[in-house]
Amino acid sequence: MKPIVVSSEGPLSQAASAARRVGKKVGFVPTMGALHAGHVSLIEAARAANGFVVVSIFVNPTQFGPNEDFICYPRPLERDLDLCDGVDLVFTPDAATMYPPGFQTLIQVKDLSNILEGASRPGHFQGVATVVLKLFNLVHPNRAYFGQKDAQQVRVIQQMVRDLNVPVEIVVCPTVREPDGLALSSRNQYLDADQRRKATALNQALEKAEEMIREGERNAAVIERAMADHIAATPGAVLDYAVSVDRETLKSASPFRGAVLLALAVKFGATRLIDNRIVEC
Ligand code: PAJ
Repeated sequence: MKPIVVSSEGPLSQAASAARRVGKKVGFVPTMGALHAGHVSLIEAARAANGFVVVSIFVNPTQFGPNEDFICYPRPLERDLDLCDGVDLVFTPDAATMYPPGFQTLIQVKDLSNILEGASRPGHFQGVATVVLKLFNLVHPNRAYFGQKDAQQVRVIQQMVRDLNVPVEIVVCPTVREPDGLALSSRNQYLDADQRRKATALNQALEKAEEMIREGERNAAVIERAMADHIAATPGAVLDYAVSVDRETLKSASPFRGAVLLALAVKFGATRLIDNRIVEC
């Protein structure tokens, strides 16, 4: 069944509170649209655990840098709605609804926002945290679903929820991949055929690093060098960062203890891809 689609705040909040009044748990999946099987896995997880499921589709301008792909970010709304099978309500606000004239409040999760993705994309996580908190305040979900694909985004949201006592459970879902290991991303469609083939290098570098840790390597510099070397050996791939960090603080952890987050960002032409995996050691 097709979901109800609303683009203003009033009907969204009313529908979500009506569901809560009849005792339904509300599950929420925030997205920027251009939905793929990764998003669908979040929707399915929300569907399985909640009586009412809300998906938001909003290409959030405040999380894009001036030279990023905000204008050309894909917006295939009709196709997205077809993929929202089992969703009760889809929220599709425009920018003026989310950021009316005079808007001036921003949420900043300090330390977690300035490193890794944040170092390359200043202001990105401030935009993410602000829009996600606003959406939480409109939907009041019991549970909200995020992908491990964006590991740093998960940590920023978890920290914000903890610091500001936001009454929502954050559920983290595994990264969905193509058969050859490439993590699904709305940005994969920017890759040409050659870049697409070579983009498997990210997952391969992570696999190699995981294998080294499993074989006993505990030195972060050695692991990071191995990932960087793998990317360097891929023609057309330009490394932004390859790190092995503590999964909570996202700061360097050498020698490793407990779970380590391997994360990397690589550019193919103008397209920037990220991937990560957590290795218990
Ligand atoms: P977007 O990139 O559309 O992603 C929406 C959600 O889908 C995020 O939680 C993301 O981690 C998850 N996701 C993307 N690719 C995935 C994959 N291959 N496997 C599993 N989950 C995947 O992330 C955003 O939008 C925005 O920053 C948002 C949180 C909506 C705020 O604007």
